[in-house]
Parts: sequence; C-alpha cells; structure tokens
Amino acid sequence: MLGLIVARSKNNVIGKDGKIPWNIKGEQKQFKELTVNNTVIMGRKTYEDIGHPLPNRTNIVISRTTKYEGVITVDSIEKAIELASGNIYIIGGYNLFKAAIPMVDVMYITDINMVIENGDVFFPEFDESKFNITIGEETPEYTRKIYRRKQ
Ligand SMILES: NC(=O)c1ccc[n+]([C@@H]2O[C@H](COP(=O)([O-])OP(=O)(O)OC[C@H]3O[C@@H](n4cnc5c(N)ncnc54)[C@H](OP(=O)(O)O)[C@@H]3O)[C@@H](O)[C@H]2O)c1
Repeated sequence: MLGLIVARSKNNVIGKDGKIPWNIKGEQKQFKELTVNNTVIMGRKTYEDIGHPLPNRTNIVISRTTKYEGVITVDSIEKAIELASGNIYIIGGYNLFKAAIPMVDVMYITDINMVIENGDVFFPEFDESKFNITIGEETPEYTRKIYRRKQ
C-alpha cells in the first residue's frame, strides 16, 4: 500500500521557513497511528525539520547531497519505495508529493482551518475526480479527509 499524509491550510500551504506553520494539539495523532511499524519516505528538508529519525518506523530520506545516521538515505523515490516495508507513506515535501500523487492508493489529507500568509511550500494541485473522498474527524481547527483512488 502506497499512501501519502499531509496537512494543508485553506490556501494550500504546507510549509513556511522550513517548518509547518501551525501547532495544533492532537493534529499529529493520526500521523503516528498510521505510520508506526511502517515506512515513512521524506525529502531532506522535511527530515531536517523533524530533526531525528521517527521511532519504531523505517525512515527513508531522499537526498542527493546528504547522509544521516539512523535513517536510510537514497537519491530517488523509486529506490526508496524498493527498500520500504509494510505500508509506505510519503510524508513530504512538495516534490515528493507531486511525484507520488499519480501513484498513491490513498491520501490522508488534513485540511487546517487557517489561511497562512507568506507560506513558501504548497501541496500540489491534483485531479480530485480520480479519488473517492471520505470525511473523517472534524474539529474547529481541522477536518480530516481520506482520498482513495477510484478503481
Ligand atoms: N504540512 C505538512 O503536512 C508537511 C509535510 C512535510 C513537510 N512540510 C514542510 O514542507 C517544507 C519542506 O518541503 P520542501 O518541499 O521544501 O522540501 P523536501 O521535499 O522535504 O526536501 C527537498 C529536498 O529533498 C531532496 N529531494 C526531493 N525530491 C527529490 C528527488 N526526486 N530526487 C532526489 N532528491 C530529492 C533534495 O535534497 P538534496 O538537496 O539534499 O538533494 C531536495 O533539496 C518544510 O517547511 C516542512 O515543514 C509540511
């Protein structure tokens, strides 16, 4: 199973100044539930934002320039997917999401109920008609949506 997990603002921002520009209690709970005992694949800047290997998961970082201790580093998404085990989740950033969207079986998208000014990384545009959308947990701060690719 190849999936993608993202949280995006109302204006599609996912990052600002190398960080995620919100901190909402409980928002990352689903991320942990989905990814523990599975594989997360991320770009170098996303890994640098997280700052350490995520515990109890296979961590694969994509970089052409840098190797880190405690994670697998490869220079392409294809190599990362080959080395992955269990469910595979692409967790950002922009280029990885853009490359993965045509391949993913499922996308876990959390829509954050905020508009972020001066964001510098966005979730790519994609064709929503290729997915069935299920609405999940709704709070005043966010709405969870699951996009499953139509057969
Ligand atoms: N809201 C969310 O859900 C979410 C999720 C993830 C990240 N973020 C945010 O997004 C931002 C980071 O995203 P980003 O798009 O700027 O960077 P990124 O994708 O995390 O990292 C970019 C780097 O990854 C490597 N890379 C990416 N695609 C590659 C490819 N196809 N082949 C080889 N190497 C590749 C390159 O590393 P080298 O330069 O080392 O070659 C590239 O410079 C941060 O602000 C982070 O907090 C938000």
